[in-house]
Amino acid sequence: MSETLFRQQKAHLDTLLSAYRSLMAQYDYDAIALYSGHATPHYGDDQMPTFQAFGHFVHWVPLWQAEHSWLVIHPDQRPTLYLYAPTDFWHLPTALPQEPWVGEFEVKLCTDVTMPALGERSAIVGDINALRESGAALPQGQPNPETLVHALDELRMIKSDYEITCLREANRLAMAGHEAAHAAFAGASCELDIQLAYLAASRQRESHVPYANIIGMNQHAGVLHYQHYDVRAPRQRFSLLVDAGRRFRGYSADITRTHVGPDAPALFETLIGALHGVKDRLIARLAPGVDFVTLHEQMHHELAEVLIDHDLFSGSREQAIAEGVTRAFCPHGLGHSLGIHVHDVAGLRTASGEPSPAPEAHPALRLTRTLMPGMVVTIEPGLYFIPMLLMPLRNTSLPINWTRVDQLAPCGGIRIEDNVVITPDGFDNLTP
Ligand code: GLY
Ligand code: MN
Ligand code: MN
Repeated sequence: MSETLFRQQKAHLDTLLSAYRSLMAQYDYDAIALYSGHATPHYGDDQMPTFQAFGHFVHWVPLWQAEHSWLVIHPDQRPTLYLYAPTDFWHLPTALPQEPWVGEFEVKLCTDVTMPALGERSAIVGDINALRESGAALPQGQPNPETLVHALDELRMIKSDYEITCLREANRLAMAGHEAAHAAFAGASCELDIQLAYLAASRQRESHVPYANIIGMNQHAGVLHYQHYDVRAPRQRFSLLVDAGRRFRGYSADITRTHVGPDAPALFETLIGALHGVKDRLIARLAPGVDFVTLHEQMHHELAEVLIDHDLFSGSREQAIAEGVTRAFCPHGLGHSLGIHVHDVAGLRTASGEPSPAPEAHPALRLTRTLMPGMVVTIEPGLYFIPMLLMPLRNTSLPINWTRVDQLAPCGGIRIEDNVVITPDGFDNLTP
């Protein structure tokens, strides 16, 4: 794989260089300097949270943990990488990998925190406030010019072949974790042990995951971003929801699977199957030119049919949507752009950088774009039994089968999530 990967990475860097150079010409900059950022210790402590380098820096440099480093793009020289590599006997010194991409940069290993020498007509892009707070003398140039930053974000929306290879590999590694998590659940493990099985099988430490893994059993499966890992297995096992990823060279997988436990009603397993069908039918519609907001609305049509087909709602599809029934069962968006960030940049802007917010009726939607080849999106329909959201519907005359809902409540909910690239003639599902 690596030969293809490195060839693709070279093409990725070539494309990025010409795109940055066009933007420099368009907006009249002599240089664009990307600051990787740095971690700051917890207040009153000397311990640091996990650091993740700025996405635009990682777009070029696959060192997603590089701190205090800069990449400077010039109109007519090789990009210069100022890589912070302190002489340090407390930590393993920073070393560059022996990979061909390194040769694309003029590399300066900096033993001290170093600011690049820049002229006035430079753009400095990154966490400039953190730099200011560190007391550093900022390089000359305009900090984070808005129009330029939106244009750089837009470059991240369409993935190169290299980025798609990275996302596919992140998916492959994550899926090994999902299989181990399922096996641990079958073996009656608790949430923490399922998390540990996931991490072991996907070969990563917890601080390296692209987002906090969601490992929820029973009602926790209905907490959308459930953030704990119980250390004891529950007496009854109705369900397990695992929403967990993996990074590969800075690119993130974001996959969800839901599993039935031995104590769930048979209907829950049927509904999991139905949600897989919803996910697959929505993916089958992916193609260039498709409007993601329309597809999100299509998810609500599909969810209305699931509710009706399984005797959870006895009104019409239109009524289920118009009266907010499907939204009470699924309050989140259909999906989002995926890349270096799990919720990647530019999802709520047009290609020219204008704001394109989520529609009022669907405030949680993170992507409002018309799909284009090279976009990578998640498709993640869900169906949950969240007491807080269903409660207001109980006092209405809406034809909801509360007996069935109450039987399903201990299962929490279902989400099925794949990662898909839009191709010129359709789609390619990256999730194995
Ligand atoms: N894991 C967060 C999400 O699915 O968007
Ligand atoms: Mn997602
Ligand atoms: Mn997810």
